[in-house]
Amino acid sequence: MSFNRREFVKFLGGSTLALGPLSLTSCQQKTGALKGIDFSSKDEFILAEGFEYDLLISFQDKISDKDTFGSNNDYTCPVAINDSEVILWVNHEYPDLLVGSQWSEGIERTKEMIDQERYTVGGSLLHLKKEQKIWKLVFNSPYNRRLNGNTEIPLISERPIEGKKTAIGTFANCAGGITPWKTILTCEENFHNYYGDRTFPEGKKVESILEWDKFYDYPPEHYGWVVEVNPMSGAAKKLTALGRFSHECATCIPTKDGRVAVYSGDDKNDEFLYKFLSDKGDSLEKGELFVANIAEGQWISLSWEKQDILKKTFKDQTDVLIHCREAGRLLGATPLDRPEDIEINPATGDVFVCLTNNKKRGNMHGSILKISESGSDHSSMSFKASDFLVGGESFSCPDNMAFDKAGNLWFATDISGGSMNKPPYSKFKNNGLFYVEMKGANAGEVIQIASAPKDAELTGLSFSPDGETMFLSVQHPGEKSKNLKSLTSHWPRGGESIPLSSVIQIRGPLLKG
Ligand code: FEO
Ligand code: CA
Ligand code: CA
Repeated sequence: MSFNRREFVKFLGGSTLALGPLSLTSCQQKTGALKGIDFSSKDEFILAEGFEYDLLISFQDKISDKDTFGSNNDYTCPVAINDSEVILWVNHEYPDLLVGSQWSEGIERTKEMIDQERYTVGGSLLHLKKEQKIWKLVFNSPYNRRLNGNTEIPLISERPIEGKKTAIGTFANCAGGITPWKTILTCEENFHNYYGDRTFPEGKKVESILEWDKFYDYPPEHYGWVVEVNPMSGAAKKLTALGRFSHECATCIPTKDGRVAVYSGDDKNDEFLYKFLSDKGDSLEKGELFVANIAEGQWISLSWEKQDILKKTFKDQTDVLIHCREAGRLLGATPLDRPEDIEINPATGDVFVCLTNNKKRGNMHGSILKISESGSDHSSMSFKASDFLVGGESFSCPDNMAFDKAGNLWFATDISGGSMNKPPYSKFKNNGLFYVEMKGANAGEVIQIASAPKDAELTGLSFSPDGETMFLSVQHPGEKSKNLKSLTSHWPRGGESIPLSSVIQIRGPLLKG
């Protein structure tokens, strides 16, 4: 794939205009031995030459005598037990209506369907063992567990929320993070689809799309949090100090002064980027939440004690945390184009934020924003923001990222099922996995490594501790199928089989070994 001038210029931190007549050919570089693939609309998982993949696990596969793997796998995060064994956390973002509860338009939603759905969301913990380069599930391992829409999870907050200190269930688990003490953070993103939400300040109930609230009366305020999970025991808690919004991810990094910074985006058009600074270096239960003013390069405190306008508007700090969007807006936070995954460049400490798109504002293809904290200090209150890569030519709608062991960036795209292969997205065809070298002659070049099957999104990329395997979620293949008799995808099993969200494992030349 040829070098892209606009992206290259952005990578250098310059402006396209300032460089004037620099021609495309003067920027073109050889990609060395690595040859990317072209965009594809085939119902296949296609990889660049030299790479190979194996299926790890698919929706509804048994993980033990009592549990099955959940629906619509997203974030993956391996935690090492030893050199050849890991516990892999996998998010299950939303129910598979087609295959799971077998609901289709025109059919009334029943309690039985919703109960099936409540079991399939949340997350899985999987004990994996590596045998001759391939990771395999240890069936029935005591480490294999499910968290789901029924799991009782304590709310870590200053006071009860809607009269309770325990929430029933976690769902809408999109991306996540890992703490310095190796617990998992799983993020509740589009929580309003399940038990609805309430308007502020009126408190008027907004009905949900999935109608779980037709059968269960759980407060919407119990969802939209970051949930910390111990991968060894499965114990979980909802960390309310990190705020409540459509959390895409929660990316942790220790600060120079011994605390932890956690970056998180609110994936909704015109919502904000947040940073949490913990009080202690080994706990996220207490700390201060900030929201970004990008134009001024400032982190603004969401502390009820410190901000008069918050004192006037909200009852207490918990009330602020429940209503982060309203609090951020009052304090002049900068609306963004759907902030999704966040990763930190291990070489520079720069914070990379995927801004997927904002169709209402005419931003169709998104970008990757770079936040450079003052003094490379993650507890800093000021930063500089610039574009790192801009979509529209060699990729569109960046969503999830990961840096590999060598410090190079991988990212995956999420053009929505309804937009894919249609203008203005036609040329990008199916979603893809892309690679960006961070230094050397080819730095900033975007190379496509994989293409997803039909209607699918690639997401949840992570690396095994030895760096030799990339785990990758292939989510919602065939999501535009009208019913089980008229399927748009048959991935991964082929033939006339039903499409199944699955986690795959990739090996190849850019991965060590
Ligand atoms: Fe669940 Fe913002 O992607
Ligand atoms: Ca996402
Ligand atoms: Ca990531």
